[in-house]
Amino acid sequence: FHVDWDLMTAEKGGFDHFMLKEIHEQPKAYRDTMRGRLSDDGRSVALSELNITPEQLRGINRVHIVACGTAMHAGLVGKTVIEQLARIPVETDVASEYRYRSPIITPDTLVIVVSQSGETADTLAALREAKRCGARVLAITNVVGSSVAREADDVIITLAGPEIAVASTKAYTSQLIAFYLFGLHLAQTRGTQDEAFVANVLAAMQALPEQVEKILAQAETIKGIAESISHHRSLFFIGRGIDYAVALEGSLKLKEISYIHSEAYAAGELKHGTLALIEEGVPVIALLTQEELYEKTISNIKETKARGAHVFGIYNEGHEAEVAKSVDRQFAIPRTLPLLTPALSVIPLQLLSYYASLALGHDVDKPRNLAKSVTVE
Ligand code: G6P
Repeated sequence: FHVDWDLMTAEKGGFDHFMLKEIHEQPKAYRDTMRGRLSDDGRSVALSELNITPEQLRGINRVHIVACGTAMHAGLVGKTVIEQLARIPVETDVASEYRYRSPIITPDTLVIVVSQSGETADTLAALREAKRCGARVLAITNVVGSSVAREADDVIITLAGPEIAVASTKAYTSQLIAFYLFGLHLAQTRGTQDEAFVANVLAAMQALPEQVEKILAQAETIKGIAESISHHRSLFFIGRGIDYAVALEGSLKLKEISYIHSEAYAAGELKHGTLALIEEGVPVIALLTQEELYEKTISNIKETKARGAHVFGIYNEGHEAEVAKSVDRQFAIPRTLPLLTPALSVIPLQLLSYYASLALGHDVDKPRNLAKSVTVE
């Protein structure tokens, strides 16, 4: 009797790869990131770690979100969250661009830097530039005591736990949770949403971990789809609104670990160029979680189908029959509020890239040319 056991296997907790383990740790990461940040009755947000005063929060007139890679994609969701909840104009930018474009930073600008590691060189440099210009800086990071956490005025720690796989999964979704909490905190303080609204969003957020578990239980369905897309050289992700932000993350994930070329496109923009690349059999992954934009996205899907695309639709449960008419394969996510769908819809996309990489025999946890943390510019 021989047991093959080493430290790495033990750390993977029975999973084949760190990435898969981290994907499965997301329900816990959501719960941990929310824990202690809600009032006792669960109806309001209590971010007691923030130094920024209610008066200062009311004085913010613009927000800049600055980050790299996956963290920047969380920032694109964060933009919609803050704009919708607190009605403050938000710009999201990649850190390596932000620093060099003389951004308009005033004392009433809040700069939010997002970084899993808290050590990314470009993000850190952007933080320093923002501070030099007199802005207040809030960091959303997964590492207590990291450079970004030390230098920012305020810190929200995401409690995702250590992330080992290069492709970020649970750190991204925990960053989304941090944005929801902060957006609600701003809304409460500035009076842009009433108590009942905030309580309703928080209740929906608390249901997310179980909803993620339901998605994870269907990993085999995604695996089948991943194996079929793994034979393709190029594919497209489309979505509108917040779905577009998630499409960008899905596309990045796939590129990082499967090395399959993909592009994420705002669905309505397809006809201004990308449609020329759609031909027989090209896979298109369409996100359809925003009820308000549903019909519009369906008509964009039809434009791709008319040119031979093979469409995989990710949509809210309840729309099965209608979606079936427009797509080739489909996957339903549990129902939540429109603003919260990224915390669910990204899960099948993470699994899709994981299984595509696996099918192609790549090193899932350590993709070529990439590093977990980039501390050079
Ligand atoms: C690297 C990683 C990415 C990550 C980015 C930003 O490129 O490979 O997964 O999103 O850095 O990292 P950070 O630690 O700042 O979130």
